[in-house]
Amino acid sequence: MRKRRPRYPGKNPRRFEHKYKELRAEQYPEAAAHIESRGKTLAGSHRPILVAEILEVLDPKPGEFGVDCTLGHAGHALELLGRLRADGASGRLIGLDVDPMEMPRAESRVRAAGHGPEAFQGVASNFAGLAGVLERVGWGLPSVILADLGVSSMQIDNPERGFTFKHDGPLDLRLNPTRGVAASEWLASVRVGRLETALREGADEPRAASLAAALVAARDKVGFRRTKVLAEWLRAWPDPATPREEVEKLVRRVFQALRIAVNDEYSALDTWLRNLPGCLAPGGRVAVLTFHSGEDRRVKHAFRAGLDAGLYSEISEEVRRPGAEELRANPRSAPAKLRWARRAGE
Ligand SMILES: C[S@@+](CC[C@H](N)C(=O)[O-])C[C@H]1O[C@@H](n2cnc3c(N)ncnc32)[C@H](O)[C@@H]1O
Repeated sequence: MRKRRPRYPGKNPRRFEHKYKELRAEQYPEAAAHIESRGKTLAGSHRPILVAEILEVLDPKPGEFGVDCTLGHAGHALELLGRLRADGASGRLIGLDVDPMEMPRAESRVRAAGHGPEAFQGVASNFAGLAGVLERVGWGLPSVILADLGVSSMQIDNPERGFTFKHDGPLDLRLNPTRGVAASEWLASVRVGRLETALREGADEPRAASLAAALVAARDKVGFRRTKVLAEWLRAWPDPATPREEVEKLVRRVFQALRIAVNDEYSALDTWLRNLPGCLAPGGRVAVLTFHSGEDRRVKHAFRAGLDAGLYSEISEEVRRPGAEELRANPRSAPAKLRWARRAGE
């Protein structure tokens, strides 16, 4: 018997769980292609960014070993595997992700593409622990490492994960909801100075001090437990004459700063960057996609320091960014910046 489609008001589904054609794109290829042709990312999926540029700078060769530190939807991973295993070569890839919900889905996607355990291992781990993962897996040092930082579209679009301020959901924002505390809990007890630092360092918030003080003063009365409650409060905070666009940017910045804080993203990135040269084979290449200044500054300085110390033989002088065509096809790629480095030796 044919299953009825979920009931929703209006012609097109608005809620994530109603977007059944997007969530099961393989069963509805025409509808999926139509949505993607309008520059939208299908619900429950993620479009890999700067793929050709990443393949160019990483230059994965048949038979080499690579690591994708941020597996996500496995978009980049599948491209890398295609190169590492070209012409029947026995190249291998490890895919790390800290998200225990998306990780098994990504792994199934890789298996469905025909890559067995001899070719691909998915590891549920923070990339800060990359050195330990390499030791446990025992495939040696990789020639190719990729990190595509931040969150995936699947995580952003699912309101239950609490990343989006566009729909209501619990104010969670954890990449791994089984560890640490949700953003609501963090916000309920954080000291004003720590909040100010998080807003400044995580989002370059220009009014970090006054906004932190206002959030702390309001939190007991308002109770920031839902994404919508926080978003609405933030929209009402600035001067009413503030243009709507600026207000939305403020909301976006605060959600980003909270996400970085609750996931301790900068400590993970700093640890990864520090250990990176020791995790790469001599002559190995690393590429990093960053999405905001706090990330990009860290990568730029670490690569520069590694070059000065002789750990890298070459680093990118300029960042590479999505071109007009990619921006049109995937507006979410807009903030992306690509940097790379080559390990000294060989
Ligand atoms: C932008 S998405 C990657 C998308 C992927 N490149 C693709 O093509 O589908 C970033 C992913 O990195 C993961 N992530 C973020 N920080 C991490 C960390 N410190 N360790 C491991 N995974 C992390 C997130 O859970 C998310 O799935």
